[in-house]
Amino acid sequence: MVSSFGLIMNYGKELKNLWLLREDVVFLNHGSFGATPISVLKSAQEVQERMESQPIEFFLDHYFLDLRKSAGRLANFIGADSDGIGFVDNATSGVNAVLRSLSHKMNSNYEILITTQTYPAVKAICYYLRDTFGCTVKEIDLPFPCHDPQEIIDIYRNSISDKTKLVIIDHVFYTSGVVAPVKDLIDLIKSKGSLVLVDGAHAPGMIPLNIESLGADWYTGNCHKWLFAPKGCAFLWTALEHRAYTKPPVISFNLNQGYYKEFDWTGTRNPSPYIALRPAIEFHKSLDSANLMARNHHLAVDARRLVAGKLGLELPCSDDMVSTLATLPFTGKYEQAPDSAYKLRKEFYGKYKIEMPFIEFNSRMWFRFSAQAYNDMSDYEYLANSMKEFIGM
Ligand SMILES: Cc1ncc(COP(=O)(O)O)c(C=O)c1O
Repeated sequence: MVSSFGLIMNYGKELKNLWLLREDVVFLNHGSFGATPISVLKSAQEVQERMESQPIEFFLDHYFLDLRKSAGRLANFIGADSDGIGFVDNATSGVNAVLRSLSHKMNSNYEILITTQTYPAVKAICYYLRDTFGCTVKEIDLPFPCHDPQEIIDIYRNSISDKTKLVIIDHVFYTSGVVAPVKDLIDLIKSKGSLVLVDGAHAPGMIPLNIESLGADWYTGNCHKWLFAPKGCAFLWTALEHRAYTKPPVISFNLNQGYYKEFDWTGTRNPSPYIALRPAIEFHKSLDSANLMARNHHLAVDARRLVAGKLGLELPCSDDMVSTLATLPFTGKYEQAPDSAYKLRKEFYGKYKIEMPFIEFNSRMWFRFSAQAYNDMSDYEYLANSMKEFIGM
């Protein structure tokens, strides 16, 4: 493959040794926790060594500057201003920060709109707030299969009411891997006078981003999934008008010192994932970011066509709705048993050494596979043959 910089970029198995990923495992679950390249882990280790060699100097003289350098680099990558970037440990913390900053308003006239495909941890925060403050939580049914993004927009249009004060939308659904028509949704939600928080847990490094151009009130995203940062590296970007009252999930010394400063210090913690974000972004760029994201998307599209074809399955959404995660319906054993996703993963992994999540949603079982730089079509040929045998075809 020739990249946009004219470099020859051989993605696939020969890159796998840039990760610690086990040789004998076909790794098709980059989505759940990401996988950090060895060079980025080494950078994080160096940060820790620097920190431990003179902890006081590290925290008093270097830490804040280092963190802001990372914010600047990230801002550039995701199309946002760095003063609007607060670091958090993960997207769950980003959502917590927003919702808990709004919680004093959450009486019975306050409705939060989510969907049946909202990430369960995010749902849990909403229901905690409902039980504590009395707001309502409306879960709208999002269908899958879904062949037209307009269907998603129409469902939201019909669900937002005068009571809706906050809408949480997923940029990429953890269930289907579908990329939501996020710009159209934000325009719609804003036109109805509601606030919008985008849960972009998967998006950074997976799809090209220009966060400011979206016009959301808040956007949270993980850097430890598709952007290759060590685990525990995420951000919450907040639009200017909400920065004064959007507080980090932990209140500390810098209370009311300004948005990003409050997030920069939430008590002593290991900050190496944030500081190693710079080498992580460099690593992503060394794989030619735009090309890598496009290649991973095309690989996921080709892979699901191959797997669906071998298993006689219909594609549940159009190719342009797919990200770098593809989801197909599972037929066969435990299709609807409540604890079956865990069992299925274990049994399938035990037999074939393919790491891949099974996910139950919309009343049936699905399997979801990822496409990352270290994968190639042979992984999905093996997946298709293994799945065929597994379901007894
Ligand atoms: C849509 C979505 N939101 C939130 C999360 C939570 O991410 P984290 O565990 O890093 O907070 C995930 C994790 O996969 C996700 O897919």
